[in-house]
Amino acid sequence: MDYRRYIAERILIDGVKKEEIEENLAVPPDSSMGDYALPCFKFAKVLRKSPVAIAEELKEKFPVGGEIKEVSAVNGYLNFKVDKRSLAEEVLNQILTEKERYGASEEGKGKTVCIDYSSVNIAKPFHIGHLSTTVLGGALYRIFQFLGYRAVGINHLGDYGTQFGKLICAYKHWGNKEEVEKGGIHAVNDLYVRFNNEATEEMEKEAREYFRLIESGDQEANALFEWFKELTLSYVKKIYDKLHISFDSYAGERFYTDKMQPVIDELNEKKLLKESEGAKIVDLEKFNMPPCLILRSDGASLYATRDLAAAIYRKNTYDFDKCLYVVAYQQNLHFKQVFKVLELMGKEWAKDLVHVAYGMVSLEDGAMSTRKGKVVWLEEVINKCVEKAYTVIDEKNPALENKAEVAEKVGVGAVVFGALYNNKIKDIVFSYDKALNFEGETSVYVQYTCARARSVLDKAIAEGYSWNDGIIEPCASEAELIKALASFPATVKAAAENYEPSYIARFAVDAAQKFNKFYIDCKILQAGDEERKFRLRLTQAALIALTNALTLLGIGVPDKM
Ligand code: ARG
Repeated sequence: MDYRRYIAERILIDGVKKEEIEENLAVPPDSSMGDYALPCFKFAKVLRKSPVAIAEELKEKFPVGGEIKEVSAVNGYLNFKVDKRSLAEEVLNQILTEKERYGASEEGKGKTVCIDYSSVNIAKPFHIGHLSTTVLGGALYRIFQFLGYRAVGINHLGDYGTQFGKLICAYKHWGNKEEVEKGGIHAVNDLYVRFNNEATEEMEKEAREYFRLIESGDQEANALFEWFKELTLSYVKKIYDKLHISFDSYAGERFYTDKMQPVIDELNEKKLLKESEGAKIVDLEKFNMPPCLILRSDGASLYATRDLAAAIYRKNTYDFDKCLYVVAYQQNLHFKQVFKVLELMGKEWAKDLVHVAYGMVSLEDGAMSTRKGKVVWLEEVINKCVEKAYTVIDEKNPALENKAEVAEKVGVGAVVFGALYNNKIKDIVFSYDKALNFEGETSVYVQYTCARARSVLDKAIAEGYSWNDGIIEPCASEAELIKALASFPATVKAAAENYEPSYIARFAVDAAQKFNKFYIDCKILQAGDEERKFRLRLTQAALIALTNALTLLGIGVPDKM
């Protein structure tokens, strides 16, 4: 039962949609005021009345009874008290029957969402700057699937460009097979860095020639390129596994080599292409943007050209309802330009392209990444966090079995959660100690809460208890927990609508805090029969909702901690 919906359906405000009323229904921090409250300030303009008067009028008209016990109007707020016992029964039944589907829906049935995320660059470091796109994209992928959409995960590989000519040149001069095979992506990257530091004029010229050779299909150059690509992909795939990330397509920039000419022809036909200093551009001055460069004066295509071809290809191939690009805000202009050009080409679906921009992640103890040298590899951050997690767990519970396995879930979870807890556009400073704080707003806090709930249930089973039914009038901390758990389906929906997995992360922390308050305030196993059954149901429901939340974020839940 969705109380917000239930209430919204019973309120009529001229010119305001039910959905808007539903969205505005808040849960007041102090539940003595009410379980739900509708602030009426927003409607003052449409209705040309004061919020106080609106709240009073709505109160008079509201049909009290059924699920709603009491309605009051206070200072422009319309407050609702629900019948807590029937609320509890509804919510518990729903969670305990739906289990791992609790929060899921079919609203996306028949719809497709393409998600372009992680999009690594071949032969370049997979560094901490890639954390957000990877885990945000992965979370959005699972969230949309959970809501019934077909999700298509696309890794738009950065595998096109002159840097591969440089790499081959560096390899020819300084590299050898054994070393690269042994050192993998790190060895490849070292060659690239060395080229940038040491290359002579002569080598720069050679590099351009190697790039031309790749383009013209030269066998040796392409074999080397493919080798570097493979090394990169087998390396990043190991990290994707750790992060529970997968893709349906690895069609990168190179894939569009033969798909750009038709786009250029179409731009020409539609008279959108202009000559400017030998280059071809689409003029966007009317839209207050710099021109979108399509072909350089030497005829070479650009990043934007490939993105135009990619968008058209995706529409033709997947017929998406939405296509998301999970890419840092530094590329705001790029996507605005690409989307605008598609709109000018008459692609009505250009409105379905969304740049899901996010802020920067840096480490507390150092800068993020620099061009020629000091780069923080994501793998290092994950490994370090897992190591630290091991130390923390070992201190807290030395007798724990499978410590390494638990540390893996806790450490990886902390890195993921660190990137997902805040509103995505915010810059984040990652701190190992804060991320691994058992008392903080952290994944380990939520994981620990799950382990605590599970241990209560295990003990109950060991004592021979069962809990198929059992209902009491909930006390304040029980009612708060129930309300928090009840908000999960709406939270998942809002997370998808706003492309904000952080809503789910916040839900998890909030629900965990409320579970722990309940756990401290109420006896569970020592309580009387009816209470015990009710509280065991509540404990199990909390475990289900928290597990679903963490799973959507890509975070594992250890059984014991
Ligand atoms: N490889 C690019 C980068 O690292 C990101 C690609 C994003 N996707 C896209 N379709 N442009 O900056």
